[in-house]
Amino acid sequence: GLDIGKVLKETGYVTYDPGFVNTAACTSAITYIDGDEGILRYRGYPIEQLAEHSTFLEVSYLLMYGELPSATQLSEFTERVRMHTLLHEDMKRFFEGFPRDAHPMAVLSAAVSALGTFYQDSQDPFDNEQVEISTVRMLAKLPTIASYAYKKSIGQPMLYPDNSLGYVDNFLRMTFGVPATGYEVDPVFAKALDLLLILHADHEQNCSTSTVRLVGSAQASLFASVSSGVNALSGPLHGGANEAVLAMLERIRAEGGDVQAFVRKVKDREDGVRLMGFGHRVYKNYDPRAAIVKNMAQDVLGRMAKPDPLLDLAMQLEEIALADDFFVSRKLYPNVDFYTGLIYKAMGFPTKMFTVLFALGRLPGWIAQWREMMSDPATKIGRPRQVYTGAPERNFVPVTER
Ligand code: ACO
Repeated sequence: GLDIGKVLKETGYVTYDPGFVNTAACTSAITYIDGDEGILRYRGYPIEQLAEHSTFLEVSYLLMYGELPSATQLSEFTERVRMHTLLHEDMKRFFEGFPRDAHPMAVLSAAVSALGTFYQDSQDPFDNEQVEISTVRMLAKLPTIASYAYKKSIGQPMLYPDNSLGYVDNFLRMTFGVPATGYEVDPVFAKALDLLLILHADHEQNCSTSTVRLVGSAQASLFASVSSGVNALSGPLHGGANEAVLAMLERIRAEGGDVQAFVRKVKDREDGVRLMGFGHRVYKNYDPRAAIVKNMAQDVLGRMAKPDPLLDLAMQLEEIALADDFFVSRKLYPNVDFYTGLIYKAMGFPTKMFTVLFALGRLPGWIAQWREMMSDPATKIGRPRQVYTGAPERNFVPVTER
């Protein structure tokens, strides 16, 4: 019952915690992480079990509604999402306006924000029906937006969703299909992508989720809040890491494939270079998601006509780093994104789309956290304090005297 915020306010103290390393901004019943033990659970279910037995839409339901759905609940939910995959025709013009080489994350956040202008009937965060329909629209339309952003970047026509297909199959077809020749979804890729979306679905108060909550705490709509989350995720220290991992591996290969030399550069902090895909604010142990992804990488990459030499470099890097005191003493282990980029590449996604795939996965987490916050009576507008370090009071000097 002790309200620390109130005590500090009354006593005139503030906590100074850059990066919120040890500050809880909310209570939440959605995701549990034990960073020292490498444990991740959604609503109490271990990530390993969900990865093995569940599907992305089922996990989305679990995160947002708190329980695994019954068979009827799941089929009704799936059907509802399926009925909302189309974008308003006028939305297409947004995609036409962006330069061809625009980063798809920027297109994604802009399109999510724009989506809100088409649904002015569902902006009220405290109206249950409006929140329900916004939830379904967001989940249903994000894959369509993501594939349109991709099609725009390669100059191909956008494909309408095919609602006879499942969530991931539909996304793959809209992304890689061309009207003239059709598209056969590879079931191994579809299964792998579904699993990757599950692994990214929530991760408690990470940077993008905290952003969604902060924006939402001002009672902004779900569209406005999620759009902000997409922007936060675009940064290389967060969702952009999977893209950065691939750039790093390609750089190592271009420089002759000397993994040891690269690790030395990281340790010497040459040009501030970091081992991308390593380290995590919370995990001080092997990221449990990375372990699942590593196993899967072999499966997916095994389907390629010729093996990707970057996988070999990644495995060498991991082995060297895990045996090196620099990384061991700092508890730096591979995070979820160390191997995901390689899998996305094998599936045919260009590097720029990697973070977009992360956003598709993280969406139900953002929505679940936003909904939880909106229904929590303890929620207040997020408004951190600061420790002022500027000039003391001084008098204005007219410009002629400066
Ligand atoms: N390579 C080399 N050194 C590193 C790395 C890395 N990837 N990560 C951390 N360190 C070092 C830091 O230099 C620091 O060393 P020091 O104490 O000698 O100064 C120490 O480890 C602690 O690092 P911090 O930056 O304080 O850790 P923080 O919790 O702030 O950062 C982060 C976590 C951002 C993930 C960091 O590990 C990083 O930059 N990793 C690479 C980027 C990455 O993979 N991001 C994905 C995160 S997971 C996700 O979004 C899904």
